[in-house]
Amino acid sequence: MDIAIMGYGVVGSGTAAVIAMNQEKISEKSLQPSVNVKYILDLRDFPGDVNESKIIKDFNIILNDGDVKIVVETMGGLHPAFEFVSECLKAGKSVVTSNKELVAAKGDILLTLAKENNANFMFEASVGGGIPIIRPIDQCLAANDIEEVAGILNGTTNFILTMMIYNSMSFEDALRLAQENGYAEKDPTADIEGFDACRKICILSSLCFGKHVFPDSVYTEGITKITPEDVAYARSWGGVIKLLGRAKKVGDRISAIVSPAFIRSDSILAGVNDVFNCILVRGNAVGDAAFYGRGAGKLATASAVVADVIDCARHIDRRKPFGWGNAEDNYVIDRSDAEASFYIRVKGEKKALLKKIAEVFGDVSVLTRDGAEENEFAFITPVEKESVLNEKLGTIEGMEILSRIWVEDY
Ligand code: HSE
Repeated sequence: MDIAIMGYGVVGSGTAAVIAMNQEKISEKSLQPSVNVKYILDLRDFPGDVNESKIIKDFNIILNDGDVKIVVETMGGLHPAFEFVSECLKAGKSVVTSNKELVAAKGDILLTLAKENNANFMFEASVGGGIPIIRPIDQCLAANDIEEVAGILNGTTNFILTMMIYNSMSFEDALRLAQENGYAEKDPTADIEGFDACRKICILSSLCFGKHVFPDSVYTEGITKITPEDVAYARSWGGVIKLLGRAKKVGDRISAIVSPAFIRSDSILAGVNDVFNCILVRGNAVGDAAFYGRGAGKLATASAVVADVIDCARHIDRRKPFGWGNAEDNYVIDRSDAEASFYIRVKGEKKALLKKIAEVFGDVSVLTRDGAEENEFAFITPVEKESVLNEKLGTIEGMEILSRIWVEDY
């Protein structure tokens, strides 16, 4: 069986490497005499590379070759990935992608194209890198009504926060180290601003709850404003700060948010450090299930890509029913309508402020940290609709809010 790879970057070259590494086993599991990488599409040249002879620059060679029945898209970005994948599906070729931007923005269209053309569109590697999560939710947890999905979905930011928590690094120094280690991109915006995690929670929400969720409907906040002071307050509260993507059912709609959050030290997620990811899924029959592993990296991500290739090969000319429905207006509730609790770090006349905070919020837990200025402290709000919390905070005069971070109970 011939396949093609579009994009010979980290994941694309990893895919070719994994197929070469486990050739016999992969062919056997694919129920095919062999699985052979026939073409690799990339605009760059790779002189001396083991796959140099397979590099092509014209997408039409792949599109017009009837022997190529499975195409791997590891180019990244929306264009021309969307056009190329659409054309392949229209030609009845199955497509495997690791491209979360593509699935989050165009998954509904591409799944429909796959269905219309009796082909498969698979993207296990788009969330959690090498962690099995898409297929387990779709198949192993199929008996459940999924109520909630949440997790640490970005390895780069988790590495940065780990360095801030355990090595007392500033955000800037930790980011530099992540770049030196090759975790963060040269332009790390999508990681540190939460966009990458947002795309992943959109894919998970679409899969868990059945309607396409677009990234622009999900409130997204990254980790750039987290300070060592916030890390110290989290420690004094008995927890750590993690960047979490989370979504849950709220009646017929869902809430979905990406933001930093305080979580208790005894949470499973608190022990997920460095570049590791962890996804928690709550089903009404299974209860809580956790999926942990390497969320990024060449061979780890390629392992998920090749598993999809094998699944496509086993189901060649035979579509596996898989997908979700179209997006619906107002399906994701506004963050201000969601219930939340916050850590609030403030500056002001402490005694007067504490009195007023108690009047407004009742008995809140007040946090302190070593080395804090006399007029600085923090407190944890009760759980209420965020719009109600905002109204209450607005009534407290003379209180300068320095930080505000969600408090979650996972
Ligand atoms: N930049 C991503 C991360 C890569 O750090 O998790 C995997 O999606």
